[in-house]
Amino acid sequence: MSFEPKIIGFLCNWCSYAGADLAGVSRFQYPTNLRIIRVMCSGRIDPFIVTKAFENGFDGVAVLGCHLGDCHYLSGNYDAQIKIQTLMKILKLVNLDDRLMLEWVSAAEGLRFSQVVKDFTDKIRSLGPSPLKNGDPVLLEKFKAVQRVAEDFRIRTLIGRKRPLLADGNVYGEKVIEEEFDNFTDEAILAEFKRNRIVLQLKEPKSVKEVAKNIDLDSQEVLRHVVILRQRGLVAVDRIDNVTPYYVSIEV
Ligand code: FES
Repeated sequence: MSFEPKIIGFLCNWCSYAGADLAGVSRFQYPTNLRIIRVMCSGRIDPFIVTKAFENGFDGVAVLGCHLGDCHYLSGNYDAQIKIQTLMKILKLVNLDDRLMLEWVSAAEGLRFSQVVKDFTDKIRSLGPSPLKNGDPVLLEKFKAVQRVAEDFRIRTLIGRKRPLLADGNVYGEKVIEEEFDNFTDEAILAEFKRNRIVLQLKEPKSVKEVAKNIDLDSQEVLRHVVILRQRGLVAVDRIDNVTPYYVSIEV
């Protein structure tokens, strides 16, 4: 039996949802794989919600909003662009980035709406079912870490500050270069991903060496992250066996 993907689409009320309506009224055909959720603006889509959709078994997620410059709330779709592009980088850590789409469809583009949905459905069909459905425990643990990165305060701050920083510079009036900002964000995403993997590993007390082996990282690097996690109050020493400290997560 051929695979029929389950896709969820978050459509902004003022453009893309109206575009979907126009497609229906104009009888432009599009696949029935798409379940539509109407939101007031694409900028309202929280990255964590997208990860929840994947967790709940969707094979693809589409975010559709007004064309840049046409947002009913002026800048919501610029915010959506930064959020979704950053989320794609986060999802790349578990190879789910290709299953997320951000597109602009206006209220007058019924035909374009049907084409965008067809193309994305074909793409997801060719990718096959979401790898999360295989039940691979390592992948599921990595995905949990990805979800935690998507709701991480530091990453969300970077997402929220990008536009004002690029437009107005920092508090000292210094210009921020986009490439440097993106590189910094990439490093922060990777570091938080590793830290969250460590936190998840430490649900049960473990030594640094055990954690390093389980998540295939260098012991020195794990130790550096553990020190930071202890400073943040997320990890504590559980006990010391001979001279080896065993650490445990506090919050999971
Ligand atoms: S109202 Fe459509 S993207 Fe903001």
